[in-house]
This record gives sequence, structure tokens and C-alpha cells, in this order.
Amino acid sequence: MAESHDAVEVIHAKRDRGTLSTSQIDWMVDAYTRGVVADEQMSALAMAILLNGMDRREIADWTAAMIASGERMDFAGLSRPTADKHSTGGVGDKITLPLAPLVAACGVAVPQLSGRGLGHTGGTLDKLESIPGWRALLSNEEMLAQLEDVGAVICAAGDGLAPADKKLYALRDVTGTVEAIPLIASSIMSKKIAEGTGALVLDVKVGSGAFMKSVDTARELAEVMVALGKDAGVNTVALLTDMETPLGLTAGNAIEVAESVEVLAGGGPADVVELTVALAREMLAAAGRDDVDPADKLADGTAMDAWRRMIGAQGGDPDAALPVAKESHVVTAASDGVLTRLDALSVGIAAWRLGAGRERKEDPVQAGAGVVWHARPGDEVRAGTPLFTLLTDTPDRFDRALAALEGGYDVAPVGTAFEPAPLVIDRVG
Ligand code: URA
Repeated sequence: MAESHDAVEVIHAKRDRGTLSTSQIDWMVDAYTRGVVADEQMSALAMAILLNGMDRREIADWTAAMIASGERMDFAGLSRPTADKHSTGGVGDKITLPLAPLVAACGVAVPQLSGRGLGHTGGTLDKLESIPGWRALLSNEEMLAQLEDVGAVICAAGDGLAPADKKLYALRDVTGTVEAIPLIASSIMSKKIAEGTGALVLDVKVGSGAFMKSVDTARELAEVMVALGKDAGVNTVALLTDMETPLGLTAGNAIEVAESVEVLAGGGPADVVELTVALAREMLAAAGRDDVDPADKLADGTAMDAWRRMIGAQGGDPDAALPVAKESHVVTAASDGVLTRLDALSVGIAAWRLGAGRERKEDPVQAGAGVVWHARPGDEVRAGTPLFTLLTDTPDRFDRALAALEGGYDVAPVGTAFEPAPLVIDRVG
């Protein structure tokens, strides 16, 4: 039983730039989860943390208190090692879909507890739910059985895992306190440590479409998370990857599933393939299996076999036609030239406004909605040819989506030199 404290005293301490004791943190997180500390008190503390920060010891204590608020899973009984990947969220970021079966095909089990999207970044579960029959909710026993049998599972995190984070994340979302490094790091790592994975690869996104807009803040977040993971016995590394430009050629739900299947079939956009293989290599190395090359498993079809079994095990039909939006609108290039910029945030907001994402947690998403872009930075475009296709079931959404795309891309004169930015910016670990 945690020593009792007074919420206002704890808030004062952080407001006045003090350091919270382990006992204060344990009590605050536990009392908030039990409803003894009120939402407005936790909001005030979250804002004080956002403004004044926390040191590494405080962040570790906060993470431990969130883990202690719920259950911990244990995969030690599986016949193969486990590795998970977490992305801090981006636009067109469908990497989990090809990655989980790819890593499973290489002999490492992937327990992926994922979330639904909120705001302009898509959610993995929303994407998979566009596959007819697929279900996100599994019991712990079903999850373990699928991990042993198929080697990969992507499902919703149960209510028992870090319930303090569920409550706090919802509060941060409506109080302007999401972007605090101590709170993001503890939120992500409490769930991943409680999930019980043996190894973890973090994909920390940097750029307009990400939480972290600069490489320096992304590196700081990555360093804090890697230290939290390692201290908890999880072999953790992080890649900092570009999110100035959206990934691949699609942002939406069904259209991102289709693009992921192309990658598993040995095709797909080069950047999606590159990042999938880079993250798979990191996961395999972290799990002690760097003797297998994931690129071979994409090429020989075994990753596709694992995908089909993974989808089928959760009731999905991997051969079923995916939902298609009822309406489409094409934006064409105004002149010949070179696409030199495609802004991830603009594309993400457009896809969200078309119905691919949700405004509030309880809103439904449209499976077929989203944005397809027909060129990537560096590609030549011709006047009158399609640049974007906007997809939705509700055409009154087109105007606001078009407004989001306005100013979100540049077409420079033919012959303009273009220097592509690296996709993987740095590695922390
Ligand atoms: N994802 C999470 O799970 N938590 C955060 O705080 C931010 C992103």
C-alpha cells in the first residue's frame, strides 16, 4: 500500500519545479486510477510535468507505477523468442501489417498490442478491421495460442494492461498535455513492458506528421524510452525515421491494407519495403536471430503465408475483397514538373477529414476512405495527370480535405534537382 499524500502538495511541488519522490508518484498514479485524485488535479499535474519536465528517476518511477496499475503478461513459455515494434505514430504508417508476419516468418514471435487512431495518425486496428471478419479483441489465452501457432498476433490491448495509462492518455488528449516527453515515454513503455515482450524496437517518427517535429526532441524521447526498456530487462533499440513525408502511396484503412499486401507479395512502394526490412532486421537482432535475412522471406512468399494465417486466425478472410469508398475525387497536376515536397501532416489531415480517422474516441471510421498520392517527392509529374485521389463515402467531406491538401505539396519546374532525405535518420540503442 503506497504511503498517502495530498494531491495539491504534489501539484505544487511540480509546479514549483521540484522533483517528485517515488512515494509521491506511486500514490498519485494509484489514487488517480482509483478515482481518489480527480481529473482536474491530474490535469494540473500533467501540465506541470509538460512545462517543467521530470528527471530519469521520476520517469522510471512513473512508468513503474503505471505498470503496477494492471496485469503483466508473460510469454516466457513460448517456444520462440518474442520481439515487438512500436511506432510513435505517423501518416501512411502501415508498417506493422507486413512487419509482424515477416518477423514471424523468420522465427521470432510478435505480440503486437495495438490501438485505434485518434486525430491525423491512423490506427493499426482500424486498418485491419477493414478486412471482412477480422476481430481485434482476443483473450490472453487466444493471444498466447496464436503466438505459438502462427507466431504473430496484432490485437487490441485488454483493459487489464496499464489501466492508469488508458485513463491518463484520454485526459491528456483533451487537456493539451500529450506532447510531454516524460508522459509519452512512460505511456508507451508501461504498456510494452507490461505486455511482456522480450525485445522491443521503437520507431520514433520525426517531422510534420509526427508528435516530435525535430530530430533533437525525437532523440531525447528515444533515449528515455530505450533506457526505460533496458532497465526493465527488455532489449530495446530505437530508429528515428522520417515523417516529413507520408509513407508509401496511401493513407487510410482498406487502402493501406492493400498496400501492405503488395509488400508481402514482393512489390509495394520502395520506402515501405525499406522501413519494413530495416525494422525487421532490428527486431530479429534484438531477439538474437540475426542469422535470418527478412528480405529473403519477403521474396520467397513465407511472409505472405504468415500474413494469411495471422489474418485467418482472427476470423479474417485474406482473400475477401476490401471495402471501396463510394465516391472519389481526383486532383491533377497544374503543370509539368518535379514533386519536391509532400507534407505528411496535410495528407494525414485530409485522410482524417475524408473519414479514415475519428474526431472522438467513440466515432466510427470509414473503411474505404483516405488519400492515394500518385507521386512521391523526386517523381516527375505532368500537367493534367492525377496527383491525388481522395476517397470517401460522404462527398460533402471533399471540400475540407482539399483545403487540408492546399499548400501541402510543391511542384518545381522540370529539371529541378531533388535530394531525397534519408528514411532512417539515426539509431539509438
Ligand atoms: N502513444 C502512446 O501510447 N502514448 C502516448 O503518450 C503517445 C503516443
